[in-house]
Amino acid sequence: MQLQSCEIYFIEVMADLMEKIVSLAKRRGFVFPGSEIYGGIGGIYDLGPLGVELANNIKSAWWRNIVRERENVVGLDSSILMSRKVWHTSGHVESFADSLVECKNCHSRFREDILPKSENCPTCGKKDWTPPRMFNLMFKTRIGPTEEAADETFLRPETAQGIFVNFGNVVDTMRVKLPFGIAQIGKGFRNEITIGNFLFRVREFEMMELEYFTFPKQAERDFEYWQKERMDWFLKVGLNKKNLRFREHEETERAHYAIRSVDIEYNWPFMGWGELEGLANRTDYDLKAHSKESGRDLSYFDEASKKKIFPYVIEPSLGVGRTMLAILIDAYSEEKAPTAEKGESETRVVLKFHPNLAPIKAAVLPLVKDEKLIKIAKDIHKDLKREWNSMYDEAGTIGRRYRRQDEIGTPFAITVDFDTIKDKSVTVRDRDTMKQERVAVKKLASYLPDRLN
Ligand code: GAP
Repeated sequence: MQLQSCEIYFIEVMADLMEKIVSLAKRRGFVFPGSEIYGGIGGIYDLGPLGVELANNIKSAWWRNIVRERENVVGLDSSILMSRKVWHTSGHVESFADSLVECKNCHSRFREDILPKSENCPTCGKKDWTPPRMFNLMFKTRIGPTEEAADETFLRPETAQGIFVNFGNVVDTMRVKLPFGIAQIGKGFRNEITIGNFLFRVREFEMMELEYFTFPKQAERDFEYWQKERMDWFLKVGLNKKNLRFREHEETERAHYAIRSVDIEYNWPFMGWGELEGLANRTDYDLKAHSKESGRDLSYFDEASKKKIFPYVIEPSLGVGRTMLAILIDAYSEEKAPTAEKGESETRVVLKFHPNLAPIKAAVLPLVKDEKLIKIAKDIHKDLKREWNSMYDEAGTIGRRYRRQDEIGTPFAITVDFDTIKDKSVTVRDRDTMKQERVAVKKLASYLPDRLN
């Protein structure tokens, strides 16, 4: 198929955008390749000082929306390591696998669904594939000091199973009434065959999962409810509506436990529309299976009907890293801006994060390196740090310092100048509009919260 020149141009622009984001993420301390000094490991990344702040802000925005602001959702933090029986019962040992093909010439391996067999090998260009075979994505590990098969288990590929096995404990201790949810944030591990596209598909990642237990006859209605809630959340944290859509899964695409799945898709620069979050109706599959295999009754006693039932489960589930990537892509912007020093214009790179997600909320900058200004600026920074993640910076021209803060998405830059000594006010510069206003130092504590939420 021949590509039009406008399509080639679009692909190049998008590749260029990703390159810029990956480079900025490394250069400014958001994301580092894992074990970099040893050459890195495929699909493993470390979060740098700003990345961990951004991830924490994403997680707390999700936790606040899913747990804190609701009466009927509680939290949980279950272990990564669980009995191997959990993974046999859940169906992951049998079914959590992708179809893999291998190039007979160079032995590169690919996921069959990502690389149709009609294609040539992207590594060596030959077209000589092995027949597809299933490859289980779970990482094997051992618990205890022996090599016995009985001690073998897996690193969890989803946090959801920790919720299902604790269902009875939560019902007994929290007096929750159906419908109710149990939410969890934690690491998941998948030995993905094809990794790449930066944080999009990795082998170790944090997940934010809600298992919402409901009456079977109400499950479809609750599914629709959560679809809307989740889309609204993405808009609330600042993602652009035009980059988001729903996509219903075909029956053949669904996980072994689901009778309905809908993805919230994002329009990724490197692949077009693709999954950002998955919603599934898991039915009573997991609770029933664990009840049967463990011998522990995980049904729920419904007071109204005086009957025991196995609730259905609606599950919205998303990765922290994948969300972070969408947020970085949406926030990245380049614009022309006047230079303070030369009276000319230059390109400024800005991460236009929602202020709530910004890793650093305010930068405090003495206009020049003067002892009096430095002292005032440091005092303001110390004060702000009690409530907000503030950064102090005195290195370089004020213009350079503004650009540095724009590039990491700091919503406010607070400049202390010689007038501050007289009028006890500072200049607050808005990251997006670059407008500056004079604010009394003692009003800063209320000025910022009004604009950060
Ligand atoms: N418990 C349901 C579940 O695990 P999933 O669709 O396989 O569902 C949920 O994963 C979410 O986790 C995805 O929507 C995506 O955001 C994220 N995710 C899955 N695999 C990932 C990977 N290899 N790298 C990064 N994020 C991943």
